[in-house]
Amino acid sequence: MRVLRTFKGKPLSGSVSVAGDKSISHRAIMFGSLAEGITQVSGLLEGEDVLSTIGAFRAMGVEIEKQDAGAYTIHGVGLDGLEEPDNVIDLGNAGTSMRLLSGVLASQSFMSILTGDDSLRGRPMGRIVKPLTLMGARILGRDDNRLAPLVIQGTELVPIDYQSPVASAQVKSAVLLAGLNTAGETSVTEPALSRDHTERMLASFGAEVERDGLRVMVDGWPTLTGQTLRVPTDPSAAAFPMVAALLIPGSDITLTGVGMNPTRTGLITLLEMMGANIERLDERDVGGEPVADLRIRHSELKGIEVPPEVIPSAIDEFPVFFVAAAMAEGETLLREAKELRVKESDRIAAMVTGLKALGATLEEREDGAIIQGQPQGLKGGAEVDSHTDHRIAMSFLVAGLACREPVTVLRCDNVDTSFPGFAGLMRGLGANVEEGRAL
Ligand code: S3P
Repeated sequence: MRVLRTFKGKPLSGSVSVAGDKSISHRAIMFGSLAEGITQVSGLLEGEDVLSTIGAFRAMGVEIEKQDAGAYTIHGVGLDGLEEPDNVIDLGNAGTSMRLLSGVLASQSFMSILTGDDSLRGRPMGRIVKPLTLMGARILGRDDNRLAPLVIQGTELVPIDYQSPVASAQVKSAVLLAGLNTAGETSVTEPALSRDHTERMLASFGAEVERDGLRVMVDGWPTLTGQTLRVPTDPSAAAFPMVAALLIPGSDITLTGVGMNPTRTGLITLLEMMGANIERLDERDVGGEPVADLRIRHSELKGIEVPPEVIPSAIDEFPVFFVAAAMAEGETLLREAKELRVKESDRIAAMVTGLKALGATLEEREDGAIIQGQPQGLKGGAEVDSHTDHRIAMSFLVAGLACREPVTVLRCDNVDTSFPGFAGLMRGLGANVEEGRAL
């Protein structure tokens, strides 16, 4: 078991580039595999989750070559060129892989079985099995088809016009990807806009994708053509050094090339409402996605009431947002966020329990929490569990940098899921991060 320990030290400073975007990296591998011809990708996140996606497409006959760090060449096989995998596909911790791949596999002419680690096998799959079944898909899973392993007997599908009950990019993408291999127009309407990387990237590969408010439509049987793609750095990874710099007095850091897609910048919106000093420099476009360099300086944060409409664009950042709120002045109220309970862990319960162990004052609610901030910083001096969730682990490591006493985080192995090199990058900014031992 990997244990990491962080403690208070000097201000953070310097300019760094965080890991590549996880969502965009998954899609680059998937769409490059389904396109015709060669796709060249650079800046790919080589985290465990994306490596699982690469493994899945290799198992279905796609040649994917690593050229250099983050640089890959994908020899696309076209929409009907995948081959039946000769074994179960294990996707580890990768929820995006499992849900998006289910959409791809439902319309193939072969059978496949998807599984994953303990966390992934406990996450809700009914949300994709339901719309795919409406399209005619044949999917079996445990617990009345709600849990993986999923057995997918590919078959010809029919298009649907799906009203999704959740704002989920994974649900939206699963249906749109099933629609790609299906004659006619498939559409999804969401209750609020979730991240739109699928729509953007499919259009850049040549698919007909149209948006009308919260409804997005894709035409079946496009010709996808291989592309040259650069993956921006991940705003969800940037969130950790960002909150650390805001909390540690005297800090002044720059994070370069961070993805600024408006469906992903909710944390910045919330932190700015709290009084954060975050400057966007050199705003530009990289491969159809907006990016900027972010200069972040220590700021006195104040508690806020989180506007529910911001939640989808900050969905992965709530663990570290809890840390910011626990050290802000006054009260922070989060509600209508029960999706956090079905992420890599129950993120409401994990953050409430861990922050209480560090001396924070907060109350758990079914759909969020009420946090009473301590602007002088938390006591710390405790051991907390990551519940094997990468974002929970990194959030408590950030907390430890601003607590009065060190914080030890157990089960940090999964940090590599989304942010390989996290500890080294934080040390490069001046943070005290040590390999530790359980107490
Ligand atoms: C993702 C969508 C989000 C997010 C996840 C990545 C994606 O999940 O939490 O980390 O790449 O599509 P939901 O679709 O469940 O909201």
